[in-house]
Amino acid sequence: MAAARSTGAGRTTVARALAAAAARLAAAGVEDSRRDARLLIAAAIGAGPERLIAEPERVLDGAEAARIEASIARRAAREPVSRILGRRGFWSLELEITPDTLDPRPDSETLVAAVLERIGAQGLVGAPLSVLDLGTGSGCLLLALLSELPAARGLGLDISAAALEVARRNARNLGLSHRARFVAGDWAGDWAGDWAVGLDGSWQVIVSNPPYITEAEIGELAPEVARYDPRLALTAGSDGLDAYRKLLPRAASLLGQGGILALEVGCGQQDAVTALLVASGLTALGRYRDLGGIERCLLASRGKPGELARK
Ligand SMILES: C[S@@+](CC[C@H](N)C(=O)[O-])C[C@H]1O[C@@H](n2cnc3c(N)ncnc32)[C@H](O)[C@@H]1O
Repeated sequence: MAAARSTGAGRTTVARALAAAAARLAAAGVEDSRRDARLLIAAAIGAGPERLIAEPERVLDGAEAARIEASIARRAAREPVSRILGRRGFWSLELEITPDTLDPRPDSETLVAAVLERIGAQGLVGAPLSVLDLGTGSGCLLLALLSELPAARGLGLDISAAALEVARRNARNLGLSHRARFVAGDWAGDWAGDWAVGLDGSWQVIVSNPPYITEAEIGELAPEVARYDPRLALTAGSDGLDAYRKLLPRAASLLGQGGILALEVGCGQQDAVTALLVASGLTALGRYRDLGGIERCLLASRGKPGELARK
């Protein structure tokens, strides 16, 4: 195999496989090559990464070596570890991801934290809130919120039917499917689906992480993003604001009085998106920074900022 030199007996050990894989990934330009090699080898042999350290001289069998070769080859082609493993940790949840879903980013947890802070400040964590997620992808935002709000119910909308299948499986696996529905639809469309009928002005919480990468930025993205995240989830026109332009007037009419809207924005987009949400009749409430210090989430409300209506 290419990822690891064999031992004298034609087999290789965990330690040798790890060293060879880390060197191969580093040569392919992978930043944290040793960590990624450890994660992928651990998954390939069905063990936790700590066992690699505890048993460096364990000899790998042929099937293990083949699985390691396959996953290290994928990572060397710059496929992210989460996509190779088909799962991603988000908030406190373990989510399935596929080529049809965006790989949820830790930055997006800022939005979950902002919404929960606002709801917590109003003493409404246990209230039967309604939550709408526009562009739900894997369902990460909606499911993270439902996992923290025990009486809330939610709807995830996405234009990708394939992504919605993943979101439904995630809801099922997390025991949240009785409180989460997922529906195919276009936020720029005519809202003809049955899910939208009679819902105008009724949502208490709307969240969205729409596509916001500019066409110019697409060429500068890391291969992990450019090659493996669905294009539909990334780009939104020449200035990256097209999705906000289409989505914000819709969100404004769907939101109930006193309801809150939480939007993820790209680096440097906060002022432009604030202007768009104000032009849609929404009131800006605050900005939240991600762990890198970037203003990542905008909070807004419909009409005067006030208490979320209790049902
Ligand atoms: C940036 S991804 C966010 C996915 C997920 N919410 C997350 O945070 O990981 C944007 C999502 O919006 C969906 N989308 C793009 N255009 C849409 C449209 N016109 N109507 C509904 N969903 C759309 C994409 O399929 C994608 O799942």
